[in-house]
Formats: sequence, C-alpha cells, structure tokens
Amino acid sequence: MQLLLTRPDDWHLHLRDGAAMADVLAHSARVFARAVVMPNLRPPVTTAAAAAAYRRRILDALPRAAGFQPLMTLYLTDLTPVDEIAAAVAGGVVVGVKLYPAGATTNSDAGVTDIERVRPVLEAMAELGLPLLVHGEVVDPEVDIFDRERAFIDRVLDPLLHSVPGLRLVFEHITTGDAVRWVLEAPARVAATITPHHLLYDRNAIFAGGISPHLYCLPVLKRERHREALLWAATSGSPRFFLGTDSAPHARSTKEAAHGCAGIFSAHAALELCAEAFEDAGALGALQGFTSQHGADFYGLPRNADTVTLVREPWTVPAAFAFGDGEVVPLRAGETVRWRLAGTSVSR
Ligand code: DOR
Ligand code: ZN
Repeated sequence: MQLLLTRPDDWHLHLRDGAAMADVLAHSARVFARAVVMPNLRPPVTTAAAAAAYRRRILDALPRAAGFQPLMTLYLTDLTPVDEIAAAVAGGVVVGVKLYPAGATTNSDAGVTDIERVRPVLEAMAELGLPLLVHGEVVDPEVDIFDRERAFIDRVLDPLLHSVPGLRLVFEHITTGDAVRWVLEAPARVAATITPHHLLYDRNAIFAGGISPHLYCLPVLKRERHREALLWAATSGSPRFFLGTDSAPHARSTKEAAHGCAGIFSAHAALELCAEAFEDAGALGALQGFTSQHGADFYGLPRNADTVTLVREPWTVPAAFAFGDGEVVPLRAGETVRWRLAGTSVSR
C-alpha cells in the first residue's frame, strides 16, 4: 500500500544550535518543506536580529538542495519591547511569538512571569496579525503536573482569548480532551498543534517495562482518554488542528540521568508515525489535511507543491543518531515503524 501526500510541514520544532543542529536538521529536511523553529536556545532568541542570524545558521547547515525553509519565532519575555514585534514583522523572518510561562519547561527561565506584563505586546501582535504560540501549562507547584494544561486554559488562556480581541493563538502541543474542546469552541483565530507522540502514547507507556526517560516530555503524556480525544481531533478533518512534532532532541547523557531533560526526538520518523496513528484510527484519508494543509492555511502560507510517498513497509529505527559530540535516542529506538518514506518529488 502507498500514500501520495502533499509535502508536509512541521509547525513546532526544536533544532538547537551548532553541531547538534546540523545533525538533527537533516532528519526534518528529508521530509518537511517548512518548520516553525522554536526560540528556546541559550540565550533565547528574543530579537528580530537574533532570529535572522539563527535562520542564517540553519540555512548554512542544511544539506544541499534540501528545499527546506525555517520559519522563525521570537521568545517573549517580560521585557520584550513593542518595537521588537514591529521590527520582526517588518523583517519578514518571524511567523510567530512564543510564550513560555517562566519555568514551565526547557530553557524557559527567561519566559513570561505574568501575562499582564506583556499585554501591550500582545495588543500590538493582534493589530499586526502575528500569532502567539503558547506553551499552555501553569507553573504553580500546587497544581498536579497532569492538570497543568487544564489549569492554564482556565487561568490564562481563556481570559486572554477574550481580553485581546483579534489575537491569533496557536495552543501548542495540546495533550488533553479539555484543550480539544476549548479550541473547538474558540473563534477561528485559534488553532492547535498536536505531536505524533501524544497521538500514539498515553502516560502508561512511560512506565511500561521500567521507566523510560525517552518518553518524558512536557506537557507530559496524559491518560488514554485524552490520547483518544487528540486522535479524534487530528483525524476529524477540522482545520483547527495540525501537526507540530515538538521534536526536541537532548543528548542521551542528559536524558538518562537523575534529573532527565524533557523532550522526545521524533524528526526521524514523524510523518511515518502520524500515518500509524491515523491508520489505527481508520482515518488515513484525513492524514494530508493534518500534516500538509491545515497549518499552511492557518498561517496564511501557500500549501506545498511538492509531494511525498509513504509505503506500508516496516523498518527498524536505529538505536541512536549523531547529536553533536553525543548521541540522541529517537522515538521507537530499536523498534519498528510500519510506514516508510519512499521518496519526495519536487515539482517544477
Ligand atoms: O518536552 C519538551 N521539550 N517540552 C518543551 O516544551 C520544550 C522541549 C525542549 O526544548 O526540550
Ligand atoms: Zn516545544
């Protein structure tokens, strides 16, 4: 069996920097035409100039003729000036601004401590039509880690939606049925990305056969009923849901550690894993919308003209890939994936 799809895009990707970036970039560029690149470097990408410089480093590290376009983001801090937003839009390099609640995840220390502090920036973004890309978890230690997305909707996101009219919002890597419902009830200026790992795994997978640090990410995997809600949303054909892999590589040594980092590397098989999830749901017909159409439509970018072909032919994922001076353990390491990328055809 074969599937011919419009070449997909990844609407949420961590590429890191330096030699590690060059290693992971090739995995994304082999299949995706474009990716929204997260700004949580050290130091974070907080200015239009830094975003343009990071974009240049990515382009320089790309394999020849990859035909891959990085779409850049700015990292919002309490101190981001309104002028920086205007500069980013004028420069044409940045497609969105990332909101990390301070302390919510990897390299989020410089994130926003109180949404009120960035209200003028958000109002300017609404005016300019620049989307806010939201890591939707509260950082309140009183809130159970499995409830942090739900609490964020109630405490931050829903009030924000109503208090900044016209602000375009992408609720990133949603993990709960609560988020699915909230997005569906919100106006059309709201969308959400969903990762392959949240479509395929629930929280029990982290503990099956011994604790698996390579299945730890943030927001953490949730109960099975939430996975089912996400799969329903992704396969529903609703244009409000699209693929953001959140592929987030960390060196093996920092994952297999007493305080292992959050992040799952999936770029090597992201589209193939989506095909598995959609096949299991009996919804392969909805795959192209989710991976190749809805995101471009939301961001107001043309859909890709190129195509990719998937064949239903199992292959075994390597135990590790190169990652700078270390290695990264990919999702499904040493296990099989049912679909394989057979080729990419470039139109024109
Ligand atoms: O698991 C995650 N890893 N979640 C995030 O929000 C950040 C990411 C990273 O950068 O490693
Ligand atoms: Zn992310």
